[in-house]
Amino acid sequence: MSTATSQTAYNYKVIRQFAVMTVIWGVIGMGLGVFIAAQLVWPELNLNLPWTSFGRLRPLHTNAVIFAFGGCALFATSYYVVQRTCQTRLISDTLAAFTFWGWQAVIVLAVITLPLGYTSSKEYAELEWPIDILLGIVWITYLVVFFGTIVKRKTKHIYVGNWFFGAFIVVTAMLHIVNSMEMPVTLFKSYSMYAGATDAMVQWWYGHNAVGFFLTTGFLGMMYYFVPKQAGRPIYSYRLSIVHFWALITLYIWAGPHHLHYTALPDWAQSLGMAMSLILLAPSWGGMINGMMSLSGAWHKLRSDPILRFLVVSLAFYGMSTFEGPMMAIKTVNALSHYTDWTIGHVHAGALGWVAMISIGSLYHLLPKVFGREQMHSVSLINAHFWLATIGTVLYIASMWVNGITQGLMWRAVNEDGTLTYSFVEALEASHLGYMVRALGGAFFVTGMLLMAYNTFRTVRAAKPAEYEAAALIPAEVAH
Ligand code: HEM
Ligand code: HEM
Repeated sequence: MSTATSQTAYNYKVIRQFAVMTVIWGVIGMGLGVFIAAQLVWPELNLNLPWTSFGRLRPLHTNAVIFAFGGCALFATSYYVVQRTCQTRLISDTLAAFTFWGWQAVIVLAVITLPLGYTSSKEYAELEWPIDILLGIVWITYLVVFFGTIVKRKTKHIYVGNWFFGAFIVVTAMLHIVNSMEMPVTLFKSYSMYAGATDAMVQWWYGHNAVGFFLTTGFLGMMYYFVPKQAGRPIYSYRLSIVHFWALITLYIWAGPHHLHYTALPDWAQSLGMAMSLILLAPSWGGMINGMMSLSGAWHKLRSDPILRFLVVSLAFYGMSTFEGPMMAIKTVNALSHYTDWTIGHVHAGALGWVAMISIGSLYHLLPKVFGREQMHSVSLINAHFWLATIGTVLYIASMWVNGITQGLMWRAVNEDGTLTYSFVEALEASHLGYMVRALGGAFFVTGMLLMAYNTFRTVRAAKPAEYEAAALIPAEVAH
């Protein structure tokens, strides 16, 4: 592309790349989810091999869905939103391309090393130190590209979506660097710099804020752009969005200890985590309400627009999981829920209902735009996807609630003489049906993702380079 053109056009290439990879990693990561869910129903599926055992594939699933699927969705949407709302091209095509290839390299290395058993054993931060360093470099480059673009913006204000994306990028860098402080002993083995309860606290400060900033704040950035866009209405309240932003980022960072209730962590820290988690309900719901209310005057569009349905239902699940989370953070509730499938249900209410649905809705909006098409190849396939995703999520969450509460109650039941009423295996047997329903729900969700992959393939195949180059042009009145 000539210099003249590159100054007057957005960089959509990197967005196209990340968007397509989101769909591909989504199918792979969620397919793996169904496979490990099936392993919990039919243990023979562990295949008696170390590489395919549940213990090794589980972290591969979490890394693939959070960092590969979720990460690519965040890169694609943040690059799209920052350019369009700042009305300028990304500051550097080379650095942007580096973030794409670097991020894919990190994922491929995860796909290779995790099944081989190389792990730092920190949840959601399993990758060994050389990959951690590569990840750190890619992330800092992302930070430079994003904030550099904001600096050279043509608009006066910084749109609120960018505030959320910006906080997600800065805090993720901080979490990754602090939690990955480790002492390498060989190329594939390192030990954490922290010890004992301190290590646990640093890990869950990281883990919880990975939820708060990676799985929440980044996706709220998406929400603030794509919900009003798709609804064709302005955001309900800018004032609320500012209060929402500051309250959310101030509170989230303190809530980590709710993952360590009844452990060696000092009691005051556990209580602090619980109190902060309860207060967190307010900004979470503030954000949900702001998104939902943006549909005022546009509710009728839900009847005919499956993309808007994805976005609205994702907000409903966001509201649900951020109500459930604070409840589970109460110590007495956590005494029942911890270690049970209730936690897994909560995770996926957030992961499938919120993270995946908002990403899918946003991508259906974005994909035709960056490929220069009017709309996706098939709207009825989007509709079918919507129902498969919704039914799949409900089956997943409901079965895990039943399992979780059953397990919690069976584990704590005692006879008059003080002995346990049920053995562990009896509780496991009682969970069998729930595991089957969860695997079925997962299969629904993945089938929807396969429809999306087909729909994307047809949309991309119909696109012509001349069309998408034209689509990337910055409107003349703003291209200074
Ligand atoms: C088809 C969809 C999916 C299925 C069938 C599925 C299945 C599973 C299964 C079976 C586990 C292990 C549960 C256990 O250890 O008892 C798991 C864990 C997990 N999954 Fe998924 N998953 C899916 C999608 C996702 C998505 C989209 C995300 C994130 C965006 C996600 C995030 C996680 C996380 C964070 C855990 C670990 C939970 C914890 O340690 O408490 N999953 N998943
Ligand atoms: C106000 C918001 C939220 C609060 C206060 C909260 C609170 C909690 C609590 C108390 C647990 C259980 C800890 C345990 O017993 O081990 C938990 C687990 C978890 N939550 Fe949330 N949650 C919130 C929102 C979300 C959202 C929106 C998501 C996903 C997008 C999410 C993802 C997770 C994950 C992945 C875990 C499992 C961590 C692990 O043990 O591996 N949470 N959350």
